[in-house]
Amino acid sequence: MPEKWLLCTFLLIAITKCAVESTPTVNQTRSLVWGPGLDANIVLPARYFYIQAVAGDNVNFTSSPGENLFTVNIYSPGEQFTRIWVQVLDRKDGSFLVRYRMYSSYRGLTIEVKFQDEHVAQSPYVLKGYVYHETCDCPHEDGTMWYKDMQCPPSFPQIQQDLAHFPFVDPDRISIEIAKRFGQRQSLCHYTIKDNKVYVKTFGEHVGFRIFMDSILLSLTRKVKIQDIEFFVNLGDWPLEKRKTTEKLHPIFSWCGSDNTKDIVMPTYDITDSVLETMGR
Ligand SMILES: *[C@@H]1O[C@H](CO)[C@@H](O)[C@H](O)[C@H]1NC(C)=O
Ligand SMILES: *[C@@H]1O[C@H](CO)[C@@H](O)[C@H](O)[C@H]1NC(C)=O
Repeated sequence: MPEKWLLCTFLLIAITKCAVESTPTVNQTRSLVWGPGLDANIVLPARYFYIQAVAGDNVNFTSSPGENLFTVNIYSPGEQFTRIWVQVLDRKDGSFLVRYRMYSSYRGLTIEVKFQDEHVAQSPYVLKGYVYHETCDCPHEDGTMWYKDMQCPPSFPQIQQDLAHFPFVDPDRISIEIAKRFGQRQSLCHYTIKDNKVYVKTFGEHVGFRIFMDSILLSLTRKVKIQDIEFFVNLGDWPLEKRKTTEKLHPIFSWCGSDNTKDIVMPTYDITDSVLETMGR
């Protein structure tokens, strides 16, 4: 019997010691906080930023230091209630994804990131000026500045390659030709953006999927003034322009493509929808 007790005590000490040794020692000053959600100019349906837990010896955590260790509080000074939904997601690799969706626009939004009641990195972060929410109709006047603010890459090679087949487009001509060629049997939308308003004419019977295109265009026009433009969008599940480059090609934006077709491939409706609806339902 005494041997058993001794063994148990020994085991208990070993386990406790083990637990004590693996207790994370996060250094809140050395931990890192960064991302677009800390910049007022980056207007997204759900904004986000990252936290990287860093230990006292300046080594990044590579596994979770534990859930709910970091707390995030977002508020606008002077507002009684700030209608913002915040989530801190443990990425289990020593970092956390913080995302928040605003239900109203606020001024001087303040983001506090804390670890055990102590501010982390440069917390609190104060976003200067107005911070707009997704449905705010507040388009930026200057598209070039907006593009820069959003930290978009200078170009998207695939889209450039697809567009290279169309060095010149006559909107009047294609509006007749594309409608005639595909308008009866395919599902198409002819979009026109004029004075930053979106107009659409549909062709074909099954055009329900236009809601996805409508919503991304409306979301964009709420954020930035878009130059007047007209284009066709194929709502079907297969690409349409099967002609050879030596023949007369029609520019059609599609959610799909192939090596043998000349549709201009853009992000699919499930991607744009999940961006727009992040934390939305
Ligand atoms: C955390 O890091 C800061 C800055 O490097 C240092 O001054 C401080 O002593 C560290 N705290 C602990 C508890 O290690
Ligand atoms: C720690 O993590 C940050 C954020 O991912 C990264 O930028 C940095 O290079 C990492 N530091 C080291 C020493 O690996």
